[in-house]
Amino acid sequence: MAAPADRSPAEYTRYRRLIAGERLPLAFVDLDAVDANIERLLAPVRRAGKTLRVASKSVRCVWLLKYLLARGAGTIRGILSYAVEEAAFLTEHGFDDIIVAYPTVQPSDCRLLAQVNAAGRRVALVVDSPAHLDALAGHAGSSPIPVVIDVDVSLRPLGGRLHLGVRRSPLRTPDAVLRLAEQIRNRSGLRLLGLMAYDAQIAGIAERNPHSPLLNPARRLIKRFSRPRVAAARQATLERLRREGFTIEVFNGGGTGSVAFASGEEALTEVTAGSGFLCSHLFDHYPHLQLRPAAFFALQIVRISDDGFVTCHGGGFAASGPPGADRAPLPWLPAGLRLTAFEGAGEVQTPLRVPAGVTLRPGDPVFFRHAKAGELAEHFTEYLLVRGERIEARAPTYRGEGRSFL
Ligand SMILES: Cc1ncc(COP(=O)(O)O)c(C=O)c1O
Repeated sequence: MAAPADRSPAEYTRYRRLIAGERLPLAFVDLDAVDANIERLLAPVRRAGKTLRVASKSVRCVWLLKYLLARGAGTIRGILSYAVEEAAFLTEHGFDDIIVAYPTVQPSDCRLLAQVNAAGRRVALVVDSPAHLDALAGHAGSSPIPVVIDVDVSLRPLGGRLHLGVRRSPLRTPDAVLRLAEQIRNRSGLRLLGLMAYDAQIAGIAERNPHSPLLNPARRLIKRFSRPRVAAARQATLERLRREGFTIEVFNGGGTGSVAFASGEEALTEVTAGSGFLCSHLFDHYPHLQLRPAAFFALQIVRISDDGFVTCHGGGFAASGPPGADRAPLPWLPAGLRLTAFEGAGEVQTPLRVPAGVTLRPGDPVFFRHAKAGELAEHFTEYLLVRGERIEARAPTYRGEGRSFL
């Protein structure tokens, strides 16, 4: 479970005071909670002497990215970006040491990648096939384009007939990775920076999912089986490449749900986390994660259709991924509010069941949490950054800067 979350009436009143007079809907980030999450996530990374790269897709706000890098200085280093245009945008804001974690073959991206590297910024691109190398060919400018090989560490029992994990890279053996590394070495204009092996079936699966509890034992089993296999696969890949004379400057792995596990792995030079800083509600159901909810959105109550119900304006901010109840926004404060089965979080209105003992009127705010940390920023142009009893800053999200990268 997440750290004992404060869902008291006093916390509702505090947030309500903080946003009094603001136009709704709005989104805000509680910096005290972010600070607590930084400490939680960094503890195992520090212990292991590793560094942590921030997954910017799970933040999507330059102010917050800068805040994380400043607060975690020395341990938080670099950005795991989700698009070349985003990476270039971040270099304009002074960021360096960026890995774009998802491949592209778009000529405009490849040109841009070459440009930012020629300008002295380090922006690497993940690759997993000769097609990716072909796309980059001919674009490199005065300095080579750094590339990172994406290695698949999914769990594939029954001789690969069952695939438990994400479907990304086809490179599953040290030899397959080595073959691509050799091709990179033979191409002018490219430089092998390192490896990335994301353990999605560990980092991305909550083993105490309240929406489908019957599957939780299977989830725990998958994670238990995966851990030693993932660690062994990463180690074997690294050793194979080193034996052939490759220098692996960066080996990235892990995500919010696996920071502690991945930090302890000798083969990795760094881990990644993004969602955990804001603790979107998908991360409430990992028993070992003690994170505090830090990002919220507030809707106004506009009407009351029946006793025991209120209706909010807007709110249909469903998350990406396999469709299911866990992708819906979570009514957070006042505690005990529930979405209705018939409407859920609606396109223009969201009705809620109100628990006994709670009285709400038109004009009152309701605070929700999004299932995914970064996607909240796509619905709002601005985040209020709050601490204690005050709004410390206001910062545009990527959307607020007129930028969208997907
Ligand atoms: C390559 C990669 N690394 C790490 C992560 C973990 O990100 P987060 O900490 O936001 O869950 C992801 C998420 O999808 C990812 O794609």
